[in-house]
Amino acid sequence: MKPYVICHMCTAIDGRILGGRWPPLPGGKDSAELFESTADSFGIGAWLVGTTTMREFAGRNVRLKKARRRIERTDHVADRRARRFAIGADAKGALRFQDPDVEGDHVVLLVSSRVTDDYLAHLQDAGVSYLFCGARDVDVKVALDKIRRVLGIRRLMLEGGGTFNGAVLHAGLVDEISQVVVPVVDGGRGVTTIFDIPGDPPRKAAAALRLKSYRKLPGGVSWFRYRVARRSAR
Ligand SMILES: NC(=O)c1ccc[n+]([C@@H]2O[C@H](COP(=O)([O-])OP(=O)(O)OC[C@H]3O[C@@H](n4cnc5c(N)ncnc54)[C@H](OP(=O)(O)O)[C@@H]3O)[C@@H](O)[C@H]2O)c1
Repeated sequence: MKPYVICHMCTAIDGRILGGRWPPLPGGKDSAELFESTADSFGIGAWLVGTTTMREFAGRNVRLKKARRRIERTDHVADRRARRFAIGADAKGALRFQDPDVEGDHVVLLVSSRVTDDYLAHLQDAGVSYLFCGARDVDVKVALDKIRRVLGIRRLMLEGGGTFNGAVLHAGLVDEISQVVVPVVDGGRGVTTIFDIPGDPPRKAAAALRLKSYRKLPGGVSWFRYRVARRSAR
C-alpha cells in the first residue's frame, strides 16, 4: 500500500536543481516562488523530502538534552488531527525541529532504529511525529507504506532533493513527475540534479515516461507533467 506519488521539482534545462545558483528569472519571480506556486496548484496537503532539504526547515541546531526515560522504538503520531504534513527522512537523527509544524504542515520524520533516546525525547517534547522505517537507513518502500497506513495520506508530493528523489524513483515508487524548467543552463558538473540515484549508476536509464501535459508559463518557463510508464531493469 502506498500513496500516489507526484515528484514535483523546479530545474534548469540540464536538470540541475540548485536555484540559488541561478540568475534572477525573467518576470522577477525567484525559483522558490515558482516552485511553491506550481506545487500549490496540485492541492495536495502532504510533502516528502530528503534530510538535506528538510534541514532548511528544521531551525537552529540545538544540543540534545539527556533523555530521562527509555523510549520504545514504535511509531509516534503527535497530532492525530493533522491534515497537512511536512515529512522528511532523518535516518541518523540529525534534525532538531523545535516546532511541530512548517507553516501549518505537521512535521513527521522518517527515522531508523539507530537514533538515540535523547533525539526521540526531543522530538516528542517538540510535538513532532516520527515513523520507524528501517534498522539503519530509511527504507523508502516501508516509509511510503507507513505514510499511507499510519497517516492516511493518499496523494503525496515528493519534493527533493535529487538524492532522495533518486532513491524513491529507483525503488519504483514514483507515479508522476512534474518538472518546471527555467530558461537557465547550470552546467556545473556534480551539481545536484532532479534524480541522483545513490550508489553506482544503474545499468540503464531509470524510467521511461509518458508526457501527460505541457504548459508554457510566463518568462520562458516550461512545465512538463509525465506519467512514469515503465521502470528499467536495475
Ligand atoms: N529546485 C528544486 O525544486 C528543489 C527542490 C527540493 C530541494 N532542492 C535543493 O536540493 C538540495 C538537496 O538535495 P540533495 O540531493 O543534496 O539532498 P536530499 O535529497 O534533500 O537529502 C539527501 C539525504 O537524505 C538522507 N536520506 C535518508 N534516507 C535516504 C534514502 N533512503 N535514500 C537517499 N537519501 C536518504 C541522506 O542523508 P544521511 O546519509 O545523512 O542520512 C541523504 O544524503 C538542497 O540544496 C535543496 O535546496 C531543490
